[in-house]
Parts: sequence; structure tokens; C-alpha cells
Amino acid sequence: MSGFVDKLRDIVGDKGLITDEPTKHSYLTDWRENYLGSALAVVRPATTEEVAAVVKLCAAEKVAIVPQGGNTGMSGGGTPHEAGREIVLSLTRMNRILDVDLIGYSMTVEAGVVLKTIQEAAAAHDRLFPLSLAAEGSCTIGGNLSTNAGGVQVLHYGNARNLVLGLEIVTPAGEIWNGLRALKKDNTGYDLRDLYLGAEGTLGIITKAVLTLWPRPKDHATSWSAVPSPDAAVALLSGAYAASEDNVTSCELMARQGIDLVLKHIPGAADPLADRHDWYLLMEWSSTRARREGANAGGLREKMEAYLGEAMEKGLVLDAVIAQTEAQSHSLWALRENHSESQKREGPSIKHDISVAVSKIPAFMKEGLVAMKKALPECRPVPFGHVGDGNLHFNCQAPPGWDKARFAPHIEKISGVIYDLVVGYGGSISAEHGIGRIKVDELAHYRSKIELDTMRTLKRALDPQNIMNPGKVIQV
Ligand code: FAD
Ligand code: MLT
Ligand code: ZN
Repeated sequence: MSGFVDKLRDIVGDKGLITDEPTKHSYLTDWRENYLGSALAVVRPATTEEVAAVVKLCAAEKVAIVPQGGNTGMSGGGTPHEAGREIVLSLTRMNRILDVDLIGYSMTVEAGVVLKTIQEAAAAHDRLFPLSLAAEGSCTIGGNLSTNAGGVQVLHYGNARNLVLGLEIVTPAGEIWNGLRALKKDNTGYDLRDLYLGAEGTLGIITKAVLTLWPRPKDHATSWSAVPSPDAAVALLSGAYAASEDNVTSCELMARQGIDLVLKHIPGAADPLADRHDWYLLMEWSSTRARREGANAGGLREKMEAYLGEAMEKGLVLDAVIAQTEAQSHSLWALRENHSESQKREGPSIKHDISVAVSKIPAFMKEGLVAMKKALPECRPVPFGHVGDGNLHFNCQAPPGWDKARFAPHIEKISGVIYDLVVGYGGSISAEHGIGRIKVDELAHYRSKIELDTMRTLKRALDPQNIMNPGKVIQV
């Protein structure tokens, strides 16, 4: 294929091409190190036109393309297959913020901009881009939109899909669709934009996006509460909406098992409460109304204190701290955000990124924990997550000392019982991480024939040669 690689070089130049094995390596494996693929080349175009020319070449030569952003995905969607007949198309050189519209509360960006850079640019203009997740320092907006990422503020601001006004797409034929419309209302036929959000690079390549901005909150309160049970956690959340005057922006549930892993693996992590408890709830309230200073000082922190005090009297809260400074808030958040990293350092685990209705979380949790232990009594459940929007990471850590090879034969059984239970509760087997490669069989099993047929019809119509991230999401 040296002729093909030369043609790629003609399009993107030496700066945009990686062909040597050591430099390619980090693009060929996923964050969880579940897959190690192979690729003809890693191609890093600098413009939409270069992306289009690369795709045209691939379409002509029938070479498949694996789009990639920050490569932090949890489902293996951005990793090439082992056969080595694909290219990885990395968008990371397309990393410019093109426009900030202060009046219209929108921002236009290239796909490879790192999420944190977008948040910081919005803040510099006194605006908020509310998508927020632990990988925000390395994931890109193109990856966020392609996975329809969720994160820790979905209950208030919605997921990635709700934060996009327009897209620019390079189609599998190498054509450029300029859908960069900054319109809140646009009922002109089928919504093409929505097709590409959450498509995980199987229908086309996102090269630019118009994002929605929000007013930047001026007051915050962060609490860390020990709660007696998940029932108490959802009751606490339910009352918090009114108590905060609709300012609950995050609500994260954690079990003691996850906290123990964070304390074990993350230097500097400390338990904020004196005693050990089984369940914790991290709540963030944010408001665009600034705190009152001076004699009548007050704001969200005082409201939160009053609310948690009442909740304690009712037995919904066992103990709690409210951050008094930004640094304290960050350390509470670090206990939550380091769950994935700690699980990774502890050894192999299964991620069950599921959702059920918030009101069903307590019952699901009870049944799920019993079911998981029944499937493998030595396993270690690590349930945590975005309880405020019904999304739990109902994860399962391998027994101590087990390596991947020893754990692998148990995965199908454990996940099978959990996903059956989720479906019984009317939930989803993938709330925010997507299907990628890891859940292709599960999607085929749990989705109805009509949904699968419709998805295949779309895929075949938009990508008739099946060159856009083949084997991911759905088999055609
Ligand atoms: P990649 O991993 O590079 O790609 C993901 C998928 O999108 C692949 O299928 C890829 O082919 C496709 N893709 C990438 N860019 C493009 C593009 N421009 N056009 C078309 N397709 C493209 N996710 C959540 O939703 N919520 C969380 O709370 C969360 N927490 C995380 C915490 C940690 C510590 C880590 C490591 C990951 C977490 N994730 C979370 C998963 C991950 O960060 C998200 O899925 C993120 O949106 C992926 O972005 P990325 O740029 O890394 O995409
Ligand atoms: C998170 O919310 O931290 C991740 O999405 C969860 C995970 O790694 O399972
Ligand atoms: Zn998550």
C-alpha cells in the first residue's frame, strides 16, 4: 500500500501523517486497553478540505476510516481493527475556536478542540459550556458529539446532543455538508444534524460544530453527604430541586467500594467524613444570581446547609460537609472524578453504563447487586454515577489479583444478568458511552428488529461502501 500512503502524504503533508509503529501505537489502543488494532497510517488533516480529500481517496481505494478525537472513549469505537486495512483519521490538528457569538450565546469550533479549552474559552467570555466529564482535559468536542457524551451536568443542561446548533460533516463520499447553522428553530425536513450526533463516526466525520452557550453561574455550593441508602439519595435529590430553587446542576451517587479504590490509588485523596458509610451523594448547586456579600451575606451555600440540616433530621442524611472554598469543592469532586482512573489501576473491570428512570434506581440497585454477586460471588461491585439523570456506572471489578485472562470468561454471564435486569426496568444498556465495538452484540440482542432494520437502512444509504468505522455500532 505504499502508493496509497504516498497519496495520503500528498494531501496532508509529512506533518499530517504518522506511519512509524512506535508513534502510531497510542492511536491504536483505547483508554481501557481492551483493544490493540493496526492501521495503514494515522492521518491528521489540518482542514476540512484535507479531511474531504482523504475520505475521497479512501472511498476510491475502498480503505476504511476510523475517526478519532482524544481517544478517551470507553467502548472501543475509536480503535481500528486488528487486520490493519484501515486508517485512523485523527481530528486533533483541527483545534481552533472559530467564533464566539456573545449575543447569540453560541460558539463555532473545529472538531479537534479539547473540551476543557472550550469550557475555558466560554468562561473567558462570561459564558458557560456545560458539558463536563472527567476526561475533559483530553477528549475533543468531535468525540463528545459523536458519542453524544453525558457527564456530570446532564440533569440540568442536557447531554451533548442538547448543546449543538449546527454541524459541518464530511460524508463517506468525501463531500462537505455545511450545516453550521446557529438556529434554535429549523423545521426544514429531516433533521440531518441529529443523525450524526451519537453515530460514533459510522455515518460521517464531524469537522466543525456550532455549540450552545449558557449564562455563567456566579454562585456555587458543593456538598458531600453520607446517605443511608440509594432510596435516601433519590429522595434527597427530589427535594433539592425546590430547596435550591431549581439550581441542582450535578447529583452523583457513589458507593463505599469506589471511595476505597480512590483512596487507595490516588495520591492526596482524603475521606472528607470521620466515619465510613456505605453510600455518598455529591451535589452541586449553581446559580447565575451572585452571592450577597456584607451584613446580609448569603446564597446557595446557606440554602444548601438549611436543606441538608432538615434532611438530617428526617434521616435522609447521616453526615455531610459543604465546601467552604473552591479548593475544597475541587477535592470533593476529585473523589468522584477519579473513580474510572482508580478502577483502571485496581485491575480489570466491566463497565455497565446503564440508565433507568431515577425513581427506579433504588430497586434496580438492590436487585442488581444481588444478581452481580450471584453471577460471580468473588466479584466486587463498584456502582456509582450520574444518579440525577438515571445513569449508573454499575461496574464490576474483578476479584483481587485476577488478570484480564482469568476474568474474561465471566464477563458475558455477569453482563447478561445485569443487562436483562436493566431491560426489565425499561432502561438502556448504554446511557452515555455508546456502543462502539464492545456492545455491538448487545445492541443487536436488546434492540427491536424494527430499530435495527432502520439503523441498517440508514447506514447502508449513507455509507454504501461501509468504509466509515465499519464493525462499530451495527453490523451491516
Ligand atoms: P474518541 O475516543 O476519540 O472517539 C469516540 C468515538 O467517536 C469513536 O467511535 C470515534 O470514531 C468517534 N469520533 C471521534 N471524533 C469524531 C469526529 N470528529 N467525527 C466522527 N466521529 C468521531 N463519557 C461520558 O459520556 N460521560 C462521562 O462522564 C465520561 N467520563 C469519562 C471519564 C474518563 C476518565 C474517561 C477516560 C472517559 C470518560 N468518558 C465519559 C468517555 C469519553 O471521554 C467520551 O466518550 C468522549 O466523548 C470521547 O471523546 P474523544 O474525543 O476522546 O473521542
Ligand atoms: C464517569 O462518569 O466517571 C465514567 O463515565 C464512568 C466509568 O468509567 O465507568
Ligand atoms: Zn459517566
